Amino acid sequence: MHILADTVFSLILSPDGIGASGITMITIIAGFGYNIQEMEKVRVELGDRSYDIVIGSGILEGIGETLKLLGFSPKMALVSNPTVFTLYGERLTDSLRKSGFDLISIQIPDGEKFKNLKSLEHIYDELLKYRLDRSSALIALGGGVIGDITGFAASTYMRGISYIQVPTTLLAQVDSSVGGKTGVNHELGKNMIGTFWQPDLVWVDVETLKTLPKREILAGIAEVIKYGVIYDRELFGFVEVAKEKILNLDKDSLTHIIKRSCRIKAEIVSRDERESGLRSILNYGHTIGHAIETVTEYRRFLHGEAVAIGMCLEAGLSRILNLINDNELSRIKSVIDSYGLPSEMPPDINVDGIFSSMQIDKKAVAGELKVILPEKIGVVRIYKGVTENEIRKLFK
Ligand SMILES: NC(=O)c1ccc[n+]([C@@H]2O[C@H](COP(=O)([O-])OP(=O)(O)OC[C@H]3O[C@@H](n4cnc5c(N)ncnc54)[C@H](O)[C@@H]3O)[C@@H](O)[C@H]2O)c1
Ligand SMILES: [Zn+2]
Repeated sequence: MHILADTVFSLILSPDGIGASGITMITIIAGFGYNIQEMEKVRVELGDRSYDIVIGSGILEGIGETLKLLGFSPKMALVSNPTVFTLYGERLTDSLRKSGFDLISIQIPDGEKFKNLKSLEHIYDELLKYRLDRSSALIALGGGVIGDITGFAASTYMRGISYIQVPTTLLAQVDSSVGGKTGVNHELGKNMIGTFWQPDLVWVDVETLKTLPKREILAGIAEVIKYGVIYDRELFGFVEVAKEKILNLDKDSLTHIIKRSCRIKAEIVSRDERESGLRSILNYGHTIGHAIETVTEYRRFLHGEAVAIGMCLEAGLSRILNLINDNELSRIKSVIDSYGLPSEMPPDINVDGIFSSMQIDKKAVAGELKVILPEKIGVVRIYKGVTENEIRKLFK
């Protein structure tokens, strides 16, 4: 399956690699009325588990023929929620059915609180009822919640089956659909039950962002800014200068930032799939960001908003430790402000709560905390041994 995927997509997407089957593919795709020149591909290299992220505008209907060409077996299940299914479910199911897939559709209610074992059980029930087998695949149509739970279901159903991500939030398109972290929440903690299980394909249609609420778009932008700070000064510069276009959902600008973000995540995941080292740089802004989400009980901020505050504070910490200069620090804060994302710890949040949530209260051994600190835009350091006093300076 993966080798086939590689062949087909390199034929479609490389300018000079058009072989016989490439022409077939072009004809088929042209029949769907979108231009393959506008499709971009990013490859996640993981040996025999490698896969492609395909990014384009208006490509949703192309998925049926693509999956058929890639040799997916006819029985499939689409997992979504009512919000996203109402918007895009029919287009996707039509495309798959026209290409000969025998598709069942499963929906779970919309919301983070339904990313749980009960929803998972519902998915298993449906898969068993309709006799999906080891050769069947799941398709996740939605944001990170749907992607995470579908990936988890795929990784455990009959000891693991294929799945395809069709992410429809910016956060899912630049982050959660790539890298193979799957999971559900437990009452005692978020994402506490999960697996590493890579998808077979990620199919990103940037046009789906047109219906996404602006607040969700901005939360996704926070993760794009993160990629700029940790790895890609040019991407950061682009997010600074192309703000109007990005906020107007200009398709070329969106495709550009999604492609660059996916490329960075793909490279990091290829080098450190299970987060034994390098992958932790993706947590820039998340040490403090997660603590903010915890003390506000996940109600007040979207994840990306909490990460935006976390990125400003962690960059501030880097300044306190003399790792970054004032100019770079203020560029990070300015871009976050310019998008209207929050950049400061709200005054009513109890700082001690933040500390205990970061597990560096007085009982913890000082110096154990690991934080990702920027040295300049595009370069970060995995910093071990930040002390409570150093962090407290941020709030003075
Ligand atoms: N696996 C990973 O590596 C990873 C990384 C980051 C986050 N996550 C997880 O992702 C989840 C958050 O994902 P999210 O931010 O996408 O939230 P989400 O999945 O809850 O989606 C946000 C909202 O947007 C709606 N929506 C989705 N697409 C839409 C569209 N095109 N038009 C209109 N509405 C649309 C959804 O129904 C939902 O109400 C969390 O559970 C988090 O733990 C996972
Ligand atoms: Zn994040």
